[in-house]
This record gives sequence, structure tokens and C-alpha cells, in this order.
Amino acid sequence: MMDASDSGAFVLEEFMDLKRALRLKEKYQTPLYLYDVEEIKEKIHTFRNYFRSSFFETEIIYASKAFSVKEMIRLVQKEGLSLDVVSLGELVTALSVGFDPKCIYFHGNNKSEEELLAALENGVGHIVVDNLEELKMLEQKCLEKNQTVAVFLRLNVGVEAHTHHFIVTAHVDSKFGVGLDSSELEQMLAICRNSSHIRLDGFHTHIGSQIFDLTAFDAAMEKMVSVLSTFPTPLMLNLGGGFGVSYTEADRPVPLKEVCTHLIFTMEKLLREKNVSLRRFCIEPGRSIVGEAGSTLYTIGFSKQTPHKLYYFVDGGMTDNIRPALYQAQYHATVLGKEQNEKKQLVTIAGKCCESGDVLIENCLLPKASPGDLLWVHTTGAYGYSMSSNYNKQLIPAVVFIEGDEDYLVVRRQTLEELTEREI
Ligand code: LLP
Repeated sequence: MMDASDSGAFVLEEFMDLKRALRLKEKYQTPLYLYDVEEIKEKIHTFRNYFRSSFFETEIIYASKAFSVKEMIRLVQKEGLSLDVVSLGELVTALSVGFDPKCIYFHGNNKSEEELLAALENGVGHIVVDNLEELKMLEQKCLEKNQTVAVFLRLNVGVEAHTHHFIVTAHVDSKFGVGLDSSELEQMLAICRNSSHIRLDGFHTHIGSQIFDLTAFDAAMEKMVSVLSTFPTPLMLNLGGGFGVSYTEADRPVPLKEVCTHLIFTMEKLLREKNVSLRRFCIEPGRSIVGEAGSTLYTIGFSKQTPHKLYYFVDGGMTDNIRPALYQAQYHATVLGKEQNEKKQLVTIAGKCCESGDVLIENCLLPKASPGDLLWVHTTGAYGYSMSSNYNKQLIPAVVFIEGDEDYLVVRRQTLEELTEREI
């Protein structure tokens, strides 16, 4: 079988058939988030095998915002990746399963005092400092605790990338990081130089998501290497995440293997050209590790024919996947148990929320389905569960990991009691 991570093309995982899906539905109900563990591992292995250099260390940091649940963090730890957390909640999730705090990078543009203290008290390996005020607060906390902390400074390198295009010297008003030529950066560097409690280990940037055009990364790397060239000792660079996945057949992301070799090649070349030494090169993939491995199973309910549309309604929607409503994200779906060559029609898959925008897939080519049929939506593994909500007091579905013939619960479905538990 073709390796999804190598092909770059849209490949349907064949681990599901109607019989299995019905069994899963009976056991866990729908909607149901499913993850193919082998596929997650495959992606991780591709990163580990190809994001390497003999000139500098490399580090792969899983961006847990894409999908942060205990079992995923255990898997990440077992596979030897580091972790990016962006809140106390993500930090606590990681620590609760014994994730090595030294391998954690703490992000965020507005970390609270509580978050900074938690990072210090738990020995978080690196804090990625977003701005001057944060650095001042962090130094103050370190002084009070007589503790030293290692930091990366988040830079806004002026490259904004999105899927097929990118713009250099754009996005100067981003809420993230500090500008390359800003006085804020100068002041932050001065604090790092003069502080006995802050150790500057490197610089971070993140230029966007679902990036298909690798030259956007080249532009960012060039800026980052220029920054490094002003330092006498080799520091680390963290390029963030943003590597694309295939949501529909129209998406042709560069295969991960090529992404890795391209980044390493370009970095080595830039370092040679500018005569700069790099200690460690880090990346922070999120979507590209879990996106394609995840899918969502729904039960089709009623349908409705309007003058211009045929709707199939499913038992979930924007509460388990906000991405179509929020970003007009496109998805591919199949009705399980229907022959591939069955006659297809254009349908709109809508959820059950009181919101006209609650459409999961607009114009989806599907065979005729009836109430009770199972709809399998692909590539929902990144930012699906992690952005789920209780709008309309819908229950958050269960999450199940599939490993070969086995399936096991990693998050149980929310209960009705839990919905009102915190209400007084
Ligand atoms: N590092 C940093 C600092 C980030 O801000 C992000 C994503 C990543 C790494 C991982 O990026 P990835 O490899 O997953 O593209 N909710 C949006 C995505 C927001 C991404 C925010 N930052 C979505 O559903 O498309």
C-alpha cells in the first residue's frame, strides 16, 4: 500500500469497513473521533528519519494544540518527541502522564503569572517568550525564586504564509512575537545579556498553517539565520509548524519526507553561505502528525431537498468540527458500506446545531444514503477535538484509538450530567 506520508497525495486509509464502523458505533456511539495509531507513528517516524543533519542537532516538537489528550502525549513521549504547550491546561495534561518537563516548550502571547510560575516550578525546559513585558515578568519571577530559566525569543520575521502563497514583510501587526528591527527586540536582548537568571538559547518563529509552498520557510529561515549571525556562540532556531496535509483530493501538500530534507538542506546551505554555526534546529509540527490519522464517524439522520440543495443531516456538526464554519475548511467523506461505483449526487452535509453556518461539507459527491447510514469524514485529526465545544449543549464525542484490529477508548464521551456539573 502506498505510504500516505510519502505520496503527498490524498490516500484513503482502508482500515474501516461498514462492519467495523457499526461495531464502533455500538460500543462508543456517534459522533466518534477515531485515530489510526499506526499512521500517527508513521508521520513521527518520517520526521525522525528525515529531519536530521550532521552539522547541527535537530529536535521535533509536537504542537499539542492540534490534539492534546493524555494518550496522545504518552505516544509522543514514547516516540521521543518534545512537546509544545500553550496553556496551563496543555501543560497539566502533559505533566499528568509524566511527560519530561525538560522537553517541553511553553508558548503563548499572554502567559499569566500563574502559567509562568507553573513553568518554573515544574522545570519546563524552555519558555518561548513572546514580548518584552513577559520577559520582564519572567525575570522578576526568576529573581524571586532564585532560579535560572532557558528561553527562546519569538520573532515576527515578517513572512506570512498560507497554503499556496506567502508574503514577505507582511503581517507586521501580528499579535505574536517581536519584529526583527524593533526596539522591543533590542531591549529583550539586553535583558538576556545582562540577566543572570535568563539564558537565551535561541529564536522561534511560526509563519502560518497548512503551508504548501516551501519557499515561505526558506524566506523565514534566511531571516532567522541572519539574526544568529550576530551572536558569537551557536544558538538554536525553532521554525514552528505549518506543514500541510491533504483534506481533499485537491490538496497536494509536499510529502513530509521532502519537507524535512528541504528544510535541512536549506538550513545547511544558509549556514554555509553566511558562515554561521547553529546548535540545534527545531520544528513544531502539529497538524501534519495527527491530521490525516484522525477521522470522524457520524450517523446520518434526516435529509431535506430544498430548491437548490440536497441536505443530509448528521448527529454532530460544528461542535465537533468548527473548521468548516470558521475557515471554510473542506473535507472529504464517504458513506460506509456503499460501493465506490454507485451513482453519486451532490449533497450538503449539515450538522444539528441551531446555526445556518453549521455545514460540515458543502457540495459533497456521495451515493444515496438513508437514515442510519454511517458517514465517515476524513482528516479531522487536527484541531477537531481540540476545538470542540458544547454549543447547544451538545456532548463532546468519545475519542478512540485504532491499532490494527484493536480499538480502545482514550477519551470517553461526555455525559449529560457533566454538562451541568459546574453550574450553580
Ligand atoms: N507552533 C506554533 C507556535 C503554532 O502557533 C502552531 C499553530 C504550531 C506550531 C503548529 O502548527 P501546525 O503544524 O499544526 O500547522 N486552528 C487552526 C490552526 C491554528 C494553528 C495555530 N498555531 C486550524 O484548525 O487550522
